Amino acid sequence: MLRFIFLVTFLQGCIARPTASVENNDIPQEDPEEIRSEAIKRLLEVFGIDDPPHSLSHVKQPPQYMVDLYNTVADEDGVTKDPDLLEGNTVRSFFDKSNSDQMHFLFNLSTVSKSEKVLTAELHLFKLKPRPSEIAYFKRHHFCQINVYLVLDKQKMHLSQGRKLLSSKLIPIHSSGWEVLTITQAVRAWTDENKNHGLLVVIRNIGATQFDTNIIRFATGKIHHESKQPMLVLFTDDGRRGVASISNQAEDLLVKPNEPYVPVTNRTRRTRSLSEDGQWPCQRHPLYVDFDEIGWSGWIISPRGYNAYHCKGSCPFPLGQNMRPTNHATVQSIINALKLVKGVSSPCCVPDKLFSINLLYFDDEENVILKQYDDMVAGSCGCH
Ligand SMILES: *[C@@H]1O[C@H](CO)[C@@H](O)[C@H](O)[C@H]1NC(C)=O
Ligand SMILES: *[C@@H]1O[C@H](CO)[C@@H](O)[C@H](O)[C@H]1NC(C)=O
Repeated sequence: MLRFIFLVTFLQGCIARPTASVENNDIPQEDPEEIRSEAIKRLLEVFGIDDPPHSLSHVKQPPQYMVDLYNTVADEDGVTKDPDLLEGNTVRSFFDKSNSDQMHFLFNLSTVSKSEKVLTAELHLFKLKPRPSEIAYFKRHHFCQINVYLVLDKQKMHLSQGRKLLSSKLIPIHSSGWEVLTITQAVRAWTDENKNHGLLVVIRNIGATQFDTNIIRFATGKIHHESKQPMLVLFTDDGRRGVASISNQAEDLLVKPNEPYVPVTNRTRRTRSLSEDGQWPCQRHPLYVDFDEIGWSGWIISPRGYNAYHCKGSCPFPLGQNMRPTNHATVQSIINALKLVKGVSSPCCVPDKLFSINLLYFDDEENVILKQYDDMVAGSCGCH
């Protein structure tokens, strides 16, 4: 299976191409284990991952926010539904590492590559409902103010010179659920890891009468369920882009792909015509990439695998419109048919539309990452 993917990826099944060209490649020819490890290495490169993360020792639930985000941008096969939903191509979630009882949070962003462009960063906090005994007390107050500060000096973080205001929000006192605050500036300031002293959240009383702001409570990683842990969500772009125009993808999805794969049975043999060289015409065939088979199911959350499809078949003269030929391919097939010039092969059956897929996975630090990869699925095939 793996070898198959490998060959499809690197030799792109144009039958007319002489097989001798393979010999110049640095693919090890002999040892199947070597081929396998080389293939996995190259596949990791495609996914922009240096080392495969270790499979997780214990089963950890990914944050619901990340799962929901994945389901919003991707269909059940991981194919991007609408490329405009995500601003960049990477979303990372980080849990608080401060172990503090106070509203001081520390996020370790060392896994973010320096080359990634930071677009937006958000602090997600889960607000707990006031205790029933406190509700009566709050009857006349409706809102409190929540301020997030960048900590400049941990020793002085409760003084104004030790911190810088990043974001502020009014929230209903009686509410419960997720509150999201934008803290993009902080992440930009933390590109130097030594400058990361964390974030401080301060609740301010804006009512006429004083009340103890400690009554406004947020879930912390230590005490509350892991599904309510404080979280930093970072949207970045790693600059990796495919050649296909991504902005057209939504429209492309409406284009009817080539006919689905029809198994060659005696019945269809009669109704569909083989070309002269005994091949089926160029069309899209399934090619399922199973992450379990590759050994990646321990760290990839979704999808379990995806259909990359592959293009196979002949591009004989004359090329019909269903072959989606380029003008160049049409001329080449004519020259080939007329044998006007020696050594001109018939055009190749290759993907002419490519779609992106999304992966939701754990990295080595057990952070959950959503990443979009361009040009991963053959949307349709044509003679080029
Ligand atoms: C952040 O994580 C990296 C990688 O695990 C580790 O080497 C580094 O010491 C951590 N930094 C802090 C401040 O905990
Ligand atoms: C196709 O036809 C051949 C010979 O007529 C027969 O042996 C074979 O079982 C048939 N295959 C299918 C899939 O019907």
